[in-house]
Amino acid sequence: MKIDVFTLFPHWFEWFRTQRHVTNALGLGHELTVVDLRETTPLKAGQVDDTPYGGGAGMVIRVDVVGAALEARYGTAPPPHRTIALSPGGGQFDDALAAELAAEPALTLLCGRYEGFDERVNEHLATDVVSIGPYVLSGGELAAMVVADAVTRKLPGALGHEESAVEESFSAALEGAPEYPHYTRPYDWRGHEVPDVLLSGDHALIREWRLAQSRDRRRK
Ligand code: 6GU
Repeated sequence: MKIDVFTLFPHWFEWFRTQRHVTNALGLGHELTVVDLRETTPLKAGQVDDTPYGGGAGMVIRVDVVGAALEARYGTAPPPHRTIALSPGGGQFDDALAAELAAEPALTLLCGRYEGFDERVNEHLATDVVSIGPYVLSGGELAAMVVADAVTRKLPGALGHEESAVEESFSAALEGAPEYPHYTRPYDWRGHEVPDVLLSGDHALIREWRLAQSRDRRRK
């Protein structure tokens, strides 16, 4: 998979690309490219934003700036893959969307800043507008990292242990429910003991208990 991130703060992604599952994915031939929106701006002095029509506080990232950046990378035709604008007003990101995006050959992530993008970015340049939750961040960079993290850990081989992404919270294997609890040594910690079923050696029983715990967590 090729992930392209368009941002005003490319250095934020330097740390991200050193994280183990990301370096694993890059080692397997996947690509992460970070593009600085300022480098291709058609405006003078690196300008990328402007005051909102109709007045109000804050600055808005211009549609022509985002358009020029996409055109410099992909040409004048729209990129043949999903282009995701990260915006707090978008549809909420979840495990099902992460799985869907992990099956794509390429993804473009557009990080907004300030008050966000001119609405025409969302309408005419993006295929999806995605939020990572009902709160406001100062920019789309952390949201893009959340999306890129959730997607890359679903790529085959990224985790090392092939199975660890299959049966985790919100996965189809757990019927979309949160994951069951995990325990390791010590067996007894300050009087809090590990559930005995996990020491029973009865794998069918353990599996049943874990599914029941997972369903229970969803209900709560
Ligand atoms: Cl995608 N962007 C910003 N700025 N804030 C957010 C968000 C995105 N998702 C949740 N909050």
